[in-house]
Amino acid sequence: MSKESSKTIESVLHEKRVFRPSEQVSDNARISSLDDYQNIYDLARKDPEKFWEEAARRELHWFKPFHQTLNWSNPPFAEWFSGGTTNISYNCLDRHITGPKANKTALIWEGEPGDVRQFTYKELHTDVCRTANALRTLGIKKGDLVALYMPMVPEAAIAMLACARIGAPHSVVFGGFSSDALRDRLIDGEAKAVITADGGFRKDKAVPLKKAVDAALSDGSCPTVKSVLVVQRTKEPIDMFSGRDHWWHELVPSQDEYCPAQQMESEERLFVLYTSGSTGKPKGVVHTTAGYNLWAHLTFQWIFDIKDNDIYWCTADVGWITGHSYIVYGPLSNGATTVMYEGAPRPSNPGAFWELIEKHKISIFYTAPTAIRAFMKTGREIPDKYDLSSLRLLGTVGEPINPEAWMWYREVIGGSKCPIVDTWWQTETGGVMISPLPGATPTKPGSATLPLPGIEADVVDSDGKSVEVEEGGYLVIKKPWPGMMRTIHGNPQRFKESYWEYLPFINGKPIYFAGDGARRDSDGYFWVMGRVDDVINVSGHRLGTMEIESALVSHPFVSEAAVVGRLDDLKGESIVAFVTLESGRDVNDQLFDELRSHVSKEIGSIARPDEIKFTDALPKTRSGKIMRRILRALASGEKISGDTSTLEDRSVLDKLRK
Ligand code: PRX
Repeated sequence: MSKESSKTIESVLHEKRVFRPSEQVSDNARISSLDDYQNIYDLARKDPEKFWEEAARRELHWFKPFHQTLNWSNPPFAEWFSGGTTNISYNCLDRHITGPKANKTALIWEGEPGDVRQFTYKELHTDVCRTANALRTLGIKKGDLVALYMPMVPEAAIAMLACARIGAPHSVVFGGFSSDALRDRLIDGEAKAVITADGGFRKDKAVPLKKAVDAALSDGSCPTVKSVLVVQRTKEPIDMFSGRDHWWHELVPSQDEYCPAQQMESEERLFVLYTSGSTGKPKGVVHTTAGYNLWAHLTFQWIFDIKDNDIYWCTADVGWITGHSYIVYGPLSNGATTVMYEGAPRPSNPGAFWELIEKHKISIFYTAPTAIRAFMKTGREIPDKYDLSSLRLLGTVGEPINPEAWMWYREVIGGSKCPIVDTWWQTETGGVMISPLPGATPTKPGSATLPLPGIEADVVDSDGKSVEVEEGGYLVIKKPWPGMMRTIHGNPQRFKESYWEYLPFINGKPIYFAGDGARRDSDGYFWVMGRVDDVINVSGHRLGTMEIESALVSHPFVSEAAVVGRLDDLKGESIVAFVTLESGRDVNDQLFDELRSHVSKEIGSIARPDEIKFTDALPKTRSGKIMRRILRALASGEKISGDTSTLEDRSVLDKLRK
């Protein structure tokens, strides 16, 4: 278990505060009491297939109706809504433009330098159609994977919807990843095209993106990529390769303004999104058309209890699953107004978020605990300068939230009147799994509270048996749900083994476990304690320690490396690397900088170690396994507890302590 977890556990164990939804919030909510929630939950549990069938028919547009709700005959490979055809771009756009929402604002975008663009549903539809037609002229067909490596500009959302429109799965690669990391993903996904920008603005700086794409494609290392579509954003000089590279502003606007939405089979791929695991390279999580659409749609509706006049803002980047489900697909599928922001709070504008809330009269705000902790540190004087009275609901995602940050969020940002939805989920789950419903669920600071209808969550021991109340264990999901990942791109075996066969089968069926520990209290509330595997969570970014170790070891001076997380008040966890050097190499300050830059180059700056401890040897068991438990304790200056008798060479410990 990570250090962040142990801190959270300590503070949440003593947490007794309960905040009930106010009458005003409940009276206006779709699901307006705990009894209402319980009734829906029981209904879904009694007959899940009927529940999902009705929801899918009610909430999505079908070109052709499905004939089977769920095929779970070959677990964990689920098939949802077989026989049906639909399209998420149609559900997000076309079905709104024939009614009163045609001229409703779909997207408000705010650029880092303060430029604003707004799109009605009708306008967004036209832009998406034109982009879809442009992709076709580049030879992109249904089934071809298109990678996006974009800043947070409207074209990122437009490109995702355009890919979905023509049935070309997208693979969004976070713009903070390095060209090497991009190349790995392009190769693994066999991408046919890349959509990028000359650069993007981040914290008062222009960040080059096209250059990274050029580097990733250099030397013919990604032969499947035939074209690159480039949005002009920063106007920094870039190279354009004739025949391969095309400017968005030259190709897209001249296209026909209508492109029919491809009728997609329910289980055809919608996107691949890479995420870190405890072993090996990042895995391409596959989500498919109908089930994902339903899950993003329904969870968005439930959790944010969305109203027609809401202005909703999620601060994530579209490079992560939160951006997919809760900036683009969930809000647009529901016909909501979604806000997208290119930048981030920065020393020159620490009140950037609050300024935006005031300016656009944002009513729902969804962000990460790491951001809240950073705001706490700079003090309430900054948000206090702004009018935040438009807010009615707050959300958090990405990591456990400590009760102190939760309370600060509630009081300082929410004026003690806004419910907080602490939403637990993962890239793999497609959408939120455990969360309060604002009009129904009493909240407790630090708890994600109760599973959503249709989600059978539990906390179990290593035999797969439910643990007692207040006892820690593995957080599992016992039944399939529509938004679940379908496989790992190119590696179904890894999908099976790492998620569904980690714990013993129950009644002959596998249960889903994706790496988190949790406990339940006597009210059945879930308290998520963090990862129990070798994944660390740095400022809400998920990183595999193995990935960082591989990056370090690829440096010619490094012989071995072990990476662990250390509790960090701001980032949740920080990265500490233990490194042994090739013989004859000396430790010096320059090497520290060089290794950090090397990791930046291999993965991206988010993976750069905060500290590197050089050592002669790493503590290992006799079978050669690195004892990370010991390294974690050393990294945080704690006493090494537990059994150390399996250490191969006990003198290593003494040296490390020094
Ligand atoms: O450890 C959990 C943590 O983030 C992990 C999933 O990371 P990722 O796939 O990048 O998706 C992040 C956005 C959904 C989980 O395994 N996590 C996410 N939300 C919470 C959380 N931990 C505690 N509480 C949450 N609300």
